[in-house]
Order: sequence, then C-alpha cells, then structure tokens
Amino acid sequence: MVESKDAHNHVMGRELTMEFARVTEAAALASARWWGRGDKIAADGAAVSAMRAMFDTVKVDGVVVIGEGEMDEAPMLYIGEKVGTGKNIKVDIAVDPLEGTNIVAKGLMGAIAVLAAAPSGCLLHAPDMYMEKIAVGPEAAGKIHLNASVTENVNAVAKSLHKKVQDITVVVLDRPRHQKIIDELRSIGTRIKLITDGDVSPAVATAIPGSGVDMVIGVGGAPEGVLAAAALRCLGGEIQGRLWPEDEHDVERAHKLGVTDVRKILTLDDLVKGDDVIFAATGITDGDFLKGVRYYSKMATTHTLVMRGTTGTVRFIDAQHRLDKKPECKKF
Ligand code: FBP
Repeated sequence: MVESKDAHNHVMGRELTMEFARVTEAAALASARWWGRGDKIAADGAAVSAMRAMFDTVKVDGVVVIGEGEMDEAPMLYIGEKVGTGKNIKVDIAVDPLEGTNIVAKGLMGAIAVLAAAPSGCLLHAPDMYMEKIAVGPEAAGKIHLNASVTENVNAVAKSLHKKVQDITVVVLDRPRHQKIIDELRSIGTRIKLITDGDVSPAVATAIPGSGVDMVIGVGGAPEGVLAAAALRCLGGEIQGRLWPEDEHDVERAHKLGVTDVRKILTLDDLVKGDDVIFAATGITDGDFLKGVRYYSKMATTHTLVMRGTTGTVRFIDAQHRLDKKPECKKF
C-alpha cells in the first residue's frame, strides 16, 4: 500500500518489509540444502529460482538494477527484469540471492540471501566489477575516508569507539591484492578477520552492536557495495566506495550504467539516495549476526534481518517454516 507522495513519487509502505523478508527467507531455505556439497552453481541456482518465485507475490512494480547479470547471461533476476505484481510503487531492486557461493559450496560460515529496495532511481546501478570499499558503524560514520591511510582510518575508528587500536577488529577478504592492507594492519597490531568470501555481511555487521566487527576494508564486488550501503543507510553507518575497473571494458560498462567518473569516491548518498530503502537478509549459514538455516523433520528455521531506512526500525525475525504445509517449500 502506498502511504504518501514525496519527491520520489511514493514512499515504500512498511508492510513491504515483511514481504521482502519472505523473499530472502525463500532463497535461504532453498540454497542452504547445498551446504558443503561442492556445487556453487546449484546452490546459487536454487537461491535464484526460489527468490524469483517469491517476488511474484510482492506488491511492487519492481525492476532489478543489481542482479545475476545481464539479460543474456542470467535466466532469472537479470538486470532490467521486472519483478513483483507490477502494481503499487515503482522500485529499484538489488539482489544477491546467494552472497557467498563458495561459502555454501565448501560448508563455511557467513553466506546470506540479501536484497535491497528503494524508489525508482535511488540505488546506484553498479556495474559488475570491483570496488574499493571502507565500511564502519554509526559511531565512526563521518570519521573515515577512502583516501586516508589504513592506519589513519583504524585510528579514527578506535577513537570513535573509545577502544585501543589493538581492540579493533577489521574484516578483510583474504586475497593477494590485500597484502599491503593486511601488512599495515598487522604492523599496528589491529585484530584482523580474514574471510574467504562474502563482504556484505561483515560490512553490515560493523553497525550491529555485539557483532564483533568494527570495520571492513578492501576491494570486493561493486554490486555488493550497494547492498551494504542500503543496510548501512538503515543503521546509520557509513560506506565509501570507488570503482576498481580492471580494463577498458570495465570502464565502458561503468559508463553504460551512468557512472561517468569511475575514479570518483562514491559516498552513501551516491550509492543509495535518501532514507526510503528497505534491506532484508536471511542467514544461509551461520554468520556474524545471523544464524543459518536449520532443517528438522517437518520444519526449517530461518533468521532474518529486515530494516527500513525511513523509520530506522531494525527487526530480527526468527521464523519456523512448516515445510509440509507449504507446497512451494516442499522441494526445499
Ligand atoms: P559470490 O558471487 O561467489 O557469491 O562471491 C561474492 C564475493 O565474495 C563478494 O562478497 C565479494 O565482494 C566478491 O565476491 C569478491 O570477489 P573475488 O572473489 O573476485 O575476490
């Protein structure tokens, strides 16, 4: 239901939070069956089909702006695909039905099913390429800068959190391209959590009290940067990004999607315009702030974070799904 009109034509109704939570729950339930089975394509495919099917029930006129790829490379949830009932508010949708395909395939921790939605034109149409990122929670928002050194940023976060540098935990993707960052963090004695995959979840975790994550830094996917930005918009944290094109083709792709200056530092406002944003994520495997899916004889449980920027309400939903009562869930 549309609540009122504003500069973006409409505001997303609060009931959509529950609708979107059901969408990420469906993806997680389908994908978690593939935990440790060594098949990331199947794990991703299961998440995509389940998410796609559940979208049909959501009362929005949605278009995927961040998805599984271009139309010719992805059968479902491709960029430009219409989702939702086609009625009600026009929204841009960013999805990652399985964020961390290797995590699920290898039976590791921290995979989520995730989406963000905002009124048409409010999410950056990030090209599928790398992005340099730095993300922090609300206390350190406004205190960090992508152009500052790693040491300067850690010092700023430590000061904002009233902690010693040695008490700060920084999450970094374990990649050779991050060796300099890792060396610098080690030289100042910061705690480092090296992750194999999945940098959306730790970026969100910087703003979740008790998650144990204070900062995320390094180069990861640009689409993942927009998803993290949607969450941090709701939670009051901060993320800055800068595209990291690897060749001319990446530069062209960025231009095609409307990013004219690929070296520009993208602020939260560039990534997600305005507070009218909904973010939903369901744990597929256990992570920093979400439990993974558990299966029982007739039931499965999910753990979901869903938030709405307009009000800043943060909800964690523990759900029990009676698989025997839901025909669409039988195959999960
Ligand atoms: P998947 O697409 O396999 O789910 O991987 C996601 C991810 O780990 C992101 O979280 C991260 O931003 C990016 O891949 C890192 O890319 P790369 O593995 O090429 O370093």
